[in-house]
Amino acid sequence: MEALLEVRRLKVGYNVEGGTLWAVDDVSFSVDKGEIVGIVGESGCGKTTLGLSFLRLLPPGSKLEGELLFDGRDIVKLSEEEIRALRGKEIAMVFQDPMTSLNPVLKIKEHFLETIRTHLALSEEEALKMASEVLGSVGIPPQKLEAYPFELSGGQRQRVMIALALVLKPKLIVADEPTTSLDVVVQAGVLDLIRRLREEFGLTIVLITHDLGVVAQVADRVMVMYAGKVVEIAFTEEFFSAPLHPYSKALLFSVPNLDLEDFDLHSLEGSPPDLLNPPKGCRFYPRCFEAMDICSFKEPEVFRISKSRFVRCWKYYG
Ligand SMILES: Nc1ncnc2c1ncn2[C@@H]1O[C@H](COP(=O)(O)OP(=O)(O)OP(=O)(O)O)[C@@H](O)[C@H]1O
Ligand SMILES: [Mg+2]
Repeated sequence: MEALLEVRRLKVGYNVEGGTLWAVDDVSFSVDKGEIVGIVGESGCGKTTLGLSFLRLLPPGSKLEGELLFDGRDIVKLSEEEIRALRGKEIAMVFQDPMTSLNPVLKIKEHFLETIRTHLALSEEEALKMASEVLGSVGIPPQKLEAYPFELSGGQRQRVMIALALVLKPKLIVADEPTTSLDVVVQAGVLDLIRRLREEFGLTIVLITHDLGVVAQVADRVMVMYAGKVVEIAFTEEFFSAPLHPYSKALLFSVPNLDLEDFDLHSLEGSPPDLLNPPKGCRFYPRCFEAMDICSFKEPEVFRISKSRFVRCWKYYG
């Protein structure tokens, strides 16, 4: 498999009172062409920050270190002009909250016209034809181009957001919690759609979610983040049949109806650490049921368990 995105030792830091808050801290992974990789973890662990860094949509003053190789080019090093040309055109993002990312005073068609004409010199008619086609492929009738965002249901808005991300046929889509605000039935529809679009458009998708059920349904691989760090990477199947990191096990414990009787699962107590003052040693140590002495003072490395499997935990040392 050929990698479309290769993230190497990536660090993303926000400038905050008291210093730099490293929301993504030494993250390495890759996404193959045509693959769906699910990124999971509790609130505040750095998922959205990681996604935004692929488009360099970070607030002024943020720090971005390491490498982000997209189709051979390092996004970290691109000029502002180059990154603007790439945004939406080659990498598109479906944002966490469709109600705030669609402008309430603009009709749906205005959103499409803006997105399309930022990159392509097309007439309004040509651009709207493109928009109608892509709306069709997400199951929204073209008449909705004339609607305002509030006139659509939550599920329709989410489909519009996906269509907006798709309209320029990007190579990579970063979907941040694309189904979180939706009820279960609508959510299933959107997940189906994501799977179908991957086939149809040969899309590569990074799917950010705190919901492991979503990952189980659509992702080929799972990457678990905790406090800015990657703690486990695995194929979805092997992950759900045998989670390795104690944090992964705790996350799985919170998913109803999973048959994981063979594992020593514990519910997750406490909360993630303050990223301005992370604990010495393993960041999960204060909440870990399987912690050893070393975990309190030495940060675990990422251990490679098999060709496809990585885990940042001293239990798997040696
Ligand atoms: N613009 C910002 N300025 C300063 N700190 C920020 C900013 N955005 C996020 N953070 C901090 O960075 C850390 C990671 O946040 P991020 O939004 O990436 O997490 P997340 O995993 O997407 O969480 P959620 O599941 O709630 O969406 C958090 O500690 C958060 O408070
Ligand atoms: Mg987020």
